[in-house]
Amino acid sequence: MFDLEAFDDHREVVHVCRPEVGLRAIVALHDTTLGPGLGGCRMWAYTDARAATVDALRLSRGMTFKNALAGLPFGGGKSVILGDPARDKTPALLEAFAAAVEELGGRYVVAEDVGITEDDARVFARRTRHVCGVAAGDEGGDDGGDPAPKTARGLFKGLEAAVSHVFGRDDLDGLRVAVQGLGAVGWKLSAQLHAAGARLVVADLDAERVERARAAFAAEIAPAEAIHRAEVDVFAPCALGGVLDRRTIPELRCRLVAGAANNQLATDADGDALAARGITYVPDYVINAGGVIAVAHEYLGERAAGVVRAKIDRIAATVSEILEQAQADGTTPARAADAAARRRLGRRGERRRAA
Ligand code: NAI
Repeated sequence: MFDLEAFDDHREVVHVCRPEVGLRAIVALHDTTLGPGLGGCRMWAYTDARAATVDALRLSRGMTFKNALAGLPFGGGKSVILGDPARDKTPALLEAFAAAVEELGGRYVVAEDVGITEDDARVFARRTRHVCGVAAGDEGGDDGGDPAPKTARGLFKGLEAAVSHVFGRDDLDGLRVAVQGLGAVGWKLSAQLHAAGARLVVADLDAERVERARAAFAAEIAPAEAIHRAEVDVFAPCALGGVLDRRTIPELRCRLVAGAANNQLATDADGDALAARGITYVPDYVINAGGVIAVAHEYLGERAAGVVRAKIDRIAATVSEILEQAQADGTTPARAADAAARRRLGRRGERRRAA
């Protein structure tokens, strides 16, 4: 693991193996300067253990930056369970994983991610106190529970700010947006964009979701493998990571990329390649922080009405600041965001940059 490119001086990486319930999992804690590692648990049918390790390392690093820039008192953590959620997920497996989280004594705080639902997080809560994203709450409300609606809200606000920066306009009427992935976040983003008058092109691997979007949002449909090539103003990746790479970037026909998916850039160099093509990229961890802001406050027991929502809505200001800073410094938004997050991490972050 220490030799992997994705390894970035992670504080601690725990391998959990409970063969009696078919559990193999990895908990990665990246930087804990600002507090315990907080980040979701992903369940995925990885091709091999190496792919799972790389994912845990990269995702937990992303959480360090996300939590720091969102102003949360948490470090970067993430966990992955190796397995197909549709086939391998059982209450016993989820409970065994949660018991392992409890054994970490609060150094890691878990929530839901791809493949782990709010109901699954409630199963976690049977065996660990260090879980969030489980409180009962209404969708737009401030009181915790499923982070996806909050992520979508922050994404929409951030997208509005980015549109204002790039296109110099304060409304979305007639703006063409390609949404890749109509899951929990992508669907809600699409609904908000449609309500704001945007024209949508959508894609998902699930044909039924795509059909529903056509009916609900008058959306145009693109094949999943071609959505990034749609001729639009904005491309919003809301499926899985790594979508912006050497192959896809030359094919993009948009001026702005702003979406929820974690780790959208396959490599740091891909951020530079986007800038070279004149495409503004809103760093994923800046714009998709709405969910973690909500669950972090749930965990801290700070659920005063309006406070969480105001923090989520501040994502718009952060997006504007990062885009303006990048412009002023002649750098990319990805590098400007990393620098801003490192400043919050203080000296340890500075050393990391120097390394
Ligand atoms: P989800 O699992 O509900 O939805 C993902 C959707 O993408 C599914 O409908 C799936 O069929 C589709 N999809 C997968 N591969 C695709 C492809 N190649 N082309 C088109 N569609 C494809 O996940 P969710 O919660 O909506 O999250 C979406 C992304 O946002 C993920 O990368 C997640 O890590 C990230 N994210 C989610 C947050 C949340 O609060 N749910 C918070 C921050 C990031």
